[in-house]
Amino acid sequence: HPHVAYRGNDLFIEDVRLADLARQHGTPLFVYSKAAMLAALAAYQRGFAGRQAQICYAMKANSSLGVLQVFAQAGCGFDIVSGGELARVLAVGGDPRKVIFSGVGKTRAEMQEALQAGIGCFNVESEAELEVLSSVAVQAGQRAPVSIRVNPNVDPKTHPYISTGLKGNKFGVAHERALATYQRAAALPGLQVVGIDCHIGSQITEETPYLDAMDRVLDLVETIEAAGIPIHHIDFGGGLGIDYNGDTPPQADALWAQLLAKLDARGFGQRQLMIEPGRSLVGNAGVCVTEVLYLKPGEQKNFCIIDAAMNDLPRPAMYQAFHQIVPLSPRASAAATWDVVGPVCESGDWIGRDRALAVQPGDALAVLSAGAYCMSMASNYNTRGRAAEVLVDGDRATLIRTRESAADTFAHEQLLPG
Ligand code: LLP
Repeated sequence: HPHVAYRGNDLFIEDVRLADLARQHGTPLFVYSKAAMLAALAAYQRGFAGRQAQICYAMKANSSLGVLQVFAQAGCGFDIVSGGELARVLAVGGDPRKVIFSGVGKTRAEMQEALQAGIGCFNVESEAELEVLSSVAVQAGQRAPVSIRVNPNVDPKTHPYISTGLKGNKFGVAHERALATYQRAAALPGLQVVGIDCHIGSQITEETPYLDAMDRVLDLVETIEAAGIPIHHIDFGGGLGIDYNGDTPPQADALWAQLLAKLDARGFGQRQLMIEPGRSLVGNAGVCVTEVLYLKPGEQKNFCIIDAAMNDLPRPAMYQAFHQIVPLSPRASAAATWDVVGPVCESGDWIGRDRALAVQPGDALAVLSAGAYCMSMASNYNTRGRAAEVLVDGDRATLIRTRESAADTFAHEQLLPG
């Protein structure tokens, strides 16, 4: 992680000492590197040089306004999955025409909002949704631009909870139903077919599933166009993995060199392309700084209790995910083996297991690769206020979200009368 590195005995993010931020803003604290986000984006931009391609950042990975501003200013569109995410795009002045709306359960109200904002495309996930979207658009006197998410039935070889392109998943329209669904879409008065899309899963670390999915999608484009329905853009979703613990996913530019070669060979090289990357743009741009509260050595396990918990960093509890945990200022003393756990009252509240660390209470640690699917999935469980967030650009650090107080966590609740 070139933007998170030790200088002497201190861990820095870009040119800012993380210990200084922890002192100033307290812990747990999420800190993001703008340069790391732009470097990750640049790999995709290099890969698409000379092509008609739109990168729509899948903002569910990290939807903090400061992060969205970075991507909007860099020319990205956004992949959204709710009216709330649309509101965030509009709040940062993002271009609605570069917004695509994914998700299996869009409500009528969300469809209306998105039509009113003038988004670029609805990625429709079922035949039932097509009918509702058409009727909402007709009522609004509009035609909704649509793409249908097809399910290529390839195995992304990732964790079952984040694999989405297999037959048993709730996502997309089955390959066999795709043509009939497109024909229905073309016949509906409120719709305008503009594209096709797929998304096969997340934290994908191999090239083969992408290449296979592309073949399956291009087969469908040929079939659908032969039936007289033009497909203007092809959206290959997101899903590219990052290095959490020695993982070796392909680099975005190298992966796209292969995918573009296939597109060219099949005569689709000049099509408008879209992608929806999330994790690969932000995952390794962020860390979570936390303080060691107590050490609790035991007969079977040694516990290192920190002030961040599963409400801040839910990925280990939800997916048995691995995040590296490193000291802000390493100690020379011998390491022991610790289970690093949070204060939440659940055995599932662990952040790392069997980690070799030389630590003392009061030490600060950094949980790495915490830029994606951490803050955006954070909760108030145990009435813990969500953490503060800082965005670093060179030697400048900006607080982009203040820490929630206890009062913030129950601000929408009301006492019973009497
Ligand atoms: N497009 C669609 C339609 C998606 O459902 C997703 C992610 C993306 C794009 C972005 O995928 P990415 O490039 O980030 O892999 N919370 C889980 C990951 C859930 C992914 C959900 N969909 C985790 O922490 O691993």
